[in-house]
Amino acid sequence: MEDMMEFLRTRRTYRRFAQRPVDPAIVREILEAARIASCGANRQTLRYAVIQSPEAVARMQPLVHWAAYLPPEQGTPGPDQTPVLFIAVCQDESLPGCNDTDEGLALGSMTAAAWAHGVGSCIMRAIDRPAISELIGLREPLKLRTVVAFGYPLHKSRIVEMKDDVKYYLDEEGNYCVPKRRMEDILIKTL
Ligand SMILES: Cc1cc2nc3c(=O)[nH]c(=O)nc-3n(C[C@H](O)[C@H](O)[C@H](O)COP(=O)(O)O)c2cc1C
Repeated sequence: MEDMMEFLRTRRTYRRFAQRPVDPAIVREILEAARIASCGANRQTLRYAVIQSPEAVARMQPLVHWAAYLPPEQGTPGPDQTPVLFIAVCQDESLPGCNDTDEGLALGSMTAAAWAHGVGSCIMRAIDRPAISELIGLREPLKLRTVVAFGYPLHKSRIVEMKDDVKYYLDEEGNYCVPKRRMEDILIKTL
């Protein structure tokens, strides 16, 4: 994708995926994007677990919760629409200084690196942390923060002008419509 703004407009959250594996080279690039992300004082406190075998991915599905604004029959992927890859973002708590900004930058880089290859993603924090930690065998000082689901999207997602509600919805074709506030509502002033 050549145009950066078009890339950013389409790098949305995706929740229904083709049952086609993500190439290992792309998985590597997603991790590389996280590895080199900016972070406070260059402390690099985040660690990553890749869940990609069909068995492990299947065990993850019931441990993540989809699309809180939609009824499950609309928002939760069907059995033939599930993500094919999860990456768990963890924090090494023995190191000082990890913060939400560091994690946000890593998540932004990971999801952008994936989208550059047409791989869609969903950042997920409505997750069963104890069960996922057990599934990936997480031990102190590592603590699970967030999971990102990945796959080749089966739907589109577009930004729509926000009227009075932030809630995303599906159009008649099952594509996501994501309301964003207008520029005049977010720009406080220009000095
Ligand atoms: C920190 C964070 C946590 C999120 N957790 C979930 C989640 O648990 N389940 C889900 O379906 N979507 C989750 N999302 C996706 C948001 O619902 C989505 O980003 C939002 O509706 C805006 O859509 P957009 O990403 O296409 O702009 C999360 C996103 C972020 C940034």
